[in-house]
Amino acid sequence: MSPVLAHAHGRDCAVLGGGLIGLAIAWRAALGGLSVHLADPEPGVGASTAAAGMLAPVTEAHYGEERLLELNLRSARRYPEFVAELERASGLPTGYDTHGTLAVAFDRDDRAVLAETAAYHRKLDLESTPLTGREARALEPMLATGVQAGLLVERDYQVDNRLLHSALLAAAIRAGVRIHRSRAALIVENGRARGLRLESGETLTADQVVLAAGCWSSEIPGLPPDVLPRVRPIRGQILRLAMGTPPTLTRTVRAMVRGRYVYLVPRAHGELVIGATTDELGFDTSVTSGGVYELLRDAHEVVPGITELPLVESRTGLRPGSPDNAPLLGETVLPCLIAATGHYRNGVLLTPITADAIAALLIDGALPEYAAPFSPERFGGLS
Ligand code: GLY
Repeated sequence: MSPVLAHAHGRDCAVLGGGLIGLAIAWRAALGGLSVHLADPEPGVGASTAAAGMLAPVTEAHYGEERLLELNLRSARRYPEFVAELERASGLPTGYDTHGTLAVAFDRDDRAVLAETAAYHRKLDLESTPLTGREARALEPMLATGVQAGLLVERDYQVDNRLLHSALLAAAIRAGVRIHRSRAALIVENGRARGLRLESGETLTADQVVLAAGCWSSEIPGLPPDVLPRVRPIRGQILRLAMGTPPTLTRTVRAMVRGRYVYLVPRAHGELVIGATTDELGFDTSVTSGGVYELLRDAHEVVPGITELPLVESRTGLRPGSPDNAPLLGETVLPCLIAATGHYRNGVLLTPITADAIAALLIDGALPEYAAPFSPERFGGLS
């Protein structure tokens, strides 16, 4: 038996990180009978509440990422049951919304990309419906008249990630998870993870530790250098506008404008989320005038009416990027340290399946087969 499995089935665990991933794991582990501590100085301050909440495995499918696509689809299928259970457990809504997603194109080049995407969907048996510009505008009348074609993906949904985070926090607390609003360092003893040390000096001894700190996962004090996960921050700037009545859009709209993707995600309660830039500047969380300008300019090309709407928020999230854009799930080279990080663009979507997989590992000592390809060990010696 590996040293990790020798310690699996332990009765307590500590989770580093109170974003969607950390909270969902803590909640499921507590429901499975484990005693769970979770440490985070400000739960939800990172990508979990910056994100747009798209559950879009099909419109975000990329060539060469078919293994990730399978995991994304599995998590999307798990969503309805997951949010129903969470809403019952927390007594709070999650804003799970099944209005679907519409991708649109403006010129010949965009149309070619959309046609290629449709062909890729057909090849993989993914459901999507090509539309003319007129058909797209019949679905979303506020689309620009220049829209020439569309691709409707009825089963790419959305969830309100901020509501989801609040519900997970409430459910985790109700299930008995002890939340420590503190930074934490990893305690390593006798060559294995042994718990967390909080800023106050208090130590939380645990049989297993889960590293779910998003883009900060390689910054945790106490992590041995050969265990640092291959995760880096990838900045996304994102805006929130307030729609009036009737709403500007009813479903998520995505487009490629000047070679950059832009998406507009309307919430039932009137918010319109416009995202997102992608750049790598370390842990810089500035919102730049250029970023806001580009987002508004590109979104305005898709839906000209947005310039009438109040801009209520501009902020940044740091996506936890990994070398192959897929998450790191499972045992690391340090016994009793489990990774649940590196979800990059898919953290909200992958929350349910990550929680299922990591809770199974914590409780039964085995990662489900579907998660095996995402072992941190795929990047070689380093975890
Ligand atoms: N999944 C959307 C984004 O990362 O911007």
